[in-house]
This record gives sequence, C-alpha cells and structure tokens, in this order.
Amino acid sequence: MSTKTLDSNTIEIIKSTVPVLAEHGTSITTRFYHLLFTNHPELLHIFNHVNQKQGKQQQALANTVYAAAQHIDNLEAILPVVKQIAHKHRSLGIQAEHYPIVGEYLLLAIKDVLGDAATDEILNAWGEAYGIIAEVFISVEKEMYMEAASQTGGWDDFREFLVSRKEVESDVITSFYLSPKDGNQISVYQPGQYITIKAIINGETYTHLRQYSLSDTSGKPYYRISVKREDQKGNTPAGLVSTFLHNQVSEGDIIEVSAPAGDFVLDTKSDRPLVLISGGVGQTPLLSMLKTSASKQPKRKIAYIHAAINSHYHAFNDEVTNLANQSEHIRYFVSYESPTENDKQTKIYHKEGFIDLPWLQSILQNNEADFYFCGPLPFMKAMNKALQEWNVPAERIHFEYFGPKGSLEE
Ligand SMILES: Cc1cc2nc3c(=O)[nH]c(=O)nc-3n(C[C@H](O)[C@H](O)[C@H](O)COP(=O)(O)OP(=O)(O)OC[C@H]3O[C@@H](n4cnc5c(N)ncnc54)[C@H](O)[C@@H]3O)c2cc1C
Ligand code: HEM
Repeated sequence: MSTKTLDSNTIEIIKSTVPVLAEHGTSITTRFYHLLFTNHPELLHIFNHVNQKQGKQQQALANTVYAAAQHIDNLEAILPVVKQIAHKHRSLGIQAEHYPIVGEYLLLAIKDVLGDAATDEILNAWGEAYGIIAEVFISVEKEMYMEAASQTGGWDDFREFLVSRKEVESDVITSFYLSPKDGNQISVYQPGQYITIKAIINGETYTHLRQYSLSDTSGKPYYRISVKREDQKGNTPAGLVSTFLHNQVSEGDIIEVSAPAGDFVLDTKSDRPLVLISGGVGQTPLLSMLKTSASKQPKRKIAYIHAAINSHYHAFNDEVTNLANQSEHIRYFVSYESPTENDKQTKIYHKEGFIDLPWLQSILQNNEADFYFCGPLPFMKAMNKALQEWNVPAERIHFEYFGPKGSLEE
C-alpha cells in the first residue's frame, strides 16, 4: 500500500469533486486519450484501437479513477479491483514510467474540460491523488512482473513462440498450439488464465495486442489458444487480430506472447459441484477448467453446459464428449440457438433456443454449486440474471469478459 498520505483538506476536495468529474467522465477521458496519443503516439502500440473507437476503454479507466478517488483514504478497499486490472496491465507490458505520462494528460484533460472550475487547488489535489493511486498500481504490478519472471519457465515481457500446430475446431474457431522458440520450459498457469498476443501485421503502423484464454490444461510443452474469426458483418469491419491469426498465421510462424495472467481462475480447493456455462468461443477458459478439474479432482461433480448457434459453430464437441464418457461425474449439455436440419435429425443437442433458468433448473436439480460462465455480453447478462433469480450467492458466481470489464446489470 501507499507510503504517502493526503491531508484532510485534500481528501475533502477530492471527495467533493468526484461527482463533478464523474459527470464529465467521458468528455474528460476522451480529451485525455486525444492528448495522450497526440503527444505519445508510441502508446498506440499498446492500446486497443477498436476499444478506443467504441469508448469502452474510456469508461473503464474513468470509472476506476473515480472509484479509487472515492476511497482515497482507504485504498485497501479497492485492492481486488486494482489486482484485476493489474493482471491485464502486466500482460500488456505496462511499465511504471507510463504512469506519470497518463497522470500528466489526465490532469490536463480535467483542466481543459472543467475550464475555470478547475482551480489550482483542485488540480493539485487530483495530481496528488493520482500519484497515490498510481503508486498502488505500480507496486502491485511490480510484484506481478517479478512473480511472472521468477517462476520456472517464466518471463516478464513478450517472448517468441512458434506456431507448432494450427487446428480447425469449427467453422469459425481455430486452435493455435504455441511452443517456445527457445525450446526452454514455459510457466504453468491456472485454468481460466489468458495470454496476450502481440500481432505484428503487414501494412499496420502499430502492433496490436489481444488476450486469448488458454484452452488446454497447464503442464504441457505448449500453450493452446482457440480463436474465433471475427468476420466483417455489414458495415462493421472484420476483427483485426483474429482474422490475421486465421488467415495469415501458419504453422512454423513466430508470434510474441506474454506470460499467463488473469484472476478468473478455477478454485480447485472447492469440492462443491462445478457448473461451467459457455456461449460460443467463451468456452476456452471453461474448457481448461473442465479438463483440469477432471484430472485433478476426479470425484468432483461437473456439469458442462455449452451454447452455440448450431453444429457448424460448435467447437470441441469431441473433446468434451470424450471427457464426459470417461467419467460418471461429468455431465455435458448442449443448447443450439438455431439447429440445422441435420442437427435436428441427429439430435446432438439438448435444448433449442437460449439457455434459460427453467432449463438450468431442470438439468441441475439445485443451485448448490460453484458457477463459472463466459460468452458474449448478452449471454453473460442472461446467465447472471438467471443465477441471481435462482438465489445463487454472489461469491459462487464467477465470470470472464472477453473485453474491458463492464456491468452485467440491465
Ligand atoms: C481475458 C480475455 C480472454 C479472451 N479470450 C479469447 C479466446 O479465448 N478466444 C477468442 O476468440 N477471443 C478471446 N478474447 C477476445 C480477443 O481478445 C479479441 O478481442 C477478439 O479476438 C477480437 O479481436 P480482433 O482484433 O479480431 O477484433 P478487433 O479488431 O479488436 O474488433 C473487435 C470487434 O469489433 C468489431 N469492430 C471492428 N472495428 C469496429 C468499429 N469501428 N466499430 C464497431 N465494431 C468494430 C470487429 O468486427 C470485432 O467483432 C478474449 C478477450 C479477453 C479480454
Ligand atoms: C491509475 C491509473 C490507471 C487506471 C485506473 C487504469 C485503469 C484501467 C482499466 C479499468 C482497464 C480495463 C481493464 C479491463 O480490461 O477490464 C485498463 C486497461 C488498460 N490500461 Fe490502464 N489504467 C491506468 C493506467 C494505465 C497506464 C499508465 C497505461 C499505459 C500507458 C494503461 C494502459 C492500459 C491498456 C493498454 C489497457 C487495455 C485496454 C485497451 O487497450 O483498451 N493504463 N486500465
């Protein structure tokens, strides 16, 4: 925790101006990013340009700074949130020296947007508060870098990996097996964690960083990621990195990868029944959890529930079916949004349409389980709502976003 403290007057200023800044939240952060990228275009190698265009990242950063400021006299309270973000920062390679740059332009943006209302007293108070918040992030991240580097097979930056195998899993999902180019060991990871890929794409001025959950179990000489190709839909451009990986990266190519990170991990100490619910490519972290639990906790009861559009989009069916066939404790359920005629004849799914609470209740009997889910945002909102309606306590509900963290409330 921070060694510096703020005097009571500064704390008072911060707390009383949080609502004012929150009101101008998006304008301030939009201005902030404009200033940041104009003065430090090299940071465009790190930030996700599409998140910028969609404003998602603006909201995430603004909300966190205000939440932190609200707890400026008790930052312990937001430590879990800091750690979650720090995992992402560490996997992206964010460094201590980046923080003063962000602080400088955040303050300038506050000044620009608030105009005369931003007195020197207010700006100084926010400068001090940002310094303290940044110090907390820097120290948490420093520890994470050290941990990543110090473990067997570990490293703290990006490392070159060879694409040793590329395997089509469905019409839209392909797995990439990544083996370290140096031939040395790679660090173990917890099921649910992700790596960051640094894509260097011909014709692109900047590198593009994206996270991919590890879809196999730890302890193998390779990492496996499984990527959904984000094709162009109408006026929405195709996804940059996923189409690059699918269309341009071949076996034998080298890509740069950061060490496994993330706090969406399976609690392997719990022996409560485990319910894993995935939508589309959201199955990657859950597949790793399923495979890990099946081998490490062979007696644990597991229900793996997967939602796909239909069999064309349904990846890993054989892998999960085989696991379920090998253990009396694993049950596997499939829901297809719009099954094909062939799917209907072969009846390889259990439910048509979306996963809903009555169906979950019919297959799970009771809510006494640890629930983990991941998938597209509307799917996640529906699962969260269903589990809340079923009175599943919040501490037994775990989920992962495949983008900046947001809210699952309607
Ligand atoms: C922790 C974590 C784990 C993840 N794990 C996985 C995984 O296991 N497998 C996986 O496939 N993905 C995973 N993702 C998502 C992944 O990181 C990428 O976000 C995803 O592959 C899309 O990246 P892209 O570069 O192809 O698309 P981007 O270029 O980033 O575009 C994102 C989406 O926006 C659309 N888009 C592009 N430009 C615009 C625009 N101007 N306006 C509106 N829409 C636009 C694209 O079509 C695409 O659907 C994970 C994400 C996180 C955060
Ligand atoms: C105290 C200061 C900071 C706060 C409060 C903060 C907050 C956040 C939050 C909330 C997220 C979203 C996490 C998620 O994906 O769920 C995030 C992601 C990110 N942050 Fe920070 N951050 C800070 C400093 C920095 C700095 C100094 C940099 C580097 C210049 C940085 C770069 C990024 C990047 C690149 C992402 C990934 C998202 C994207 O690319 O769109 N952040 N940060």
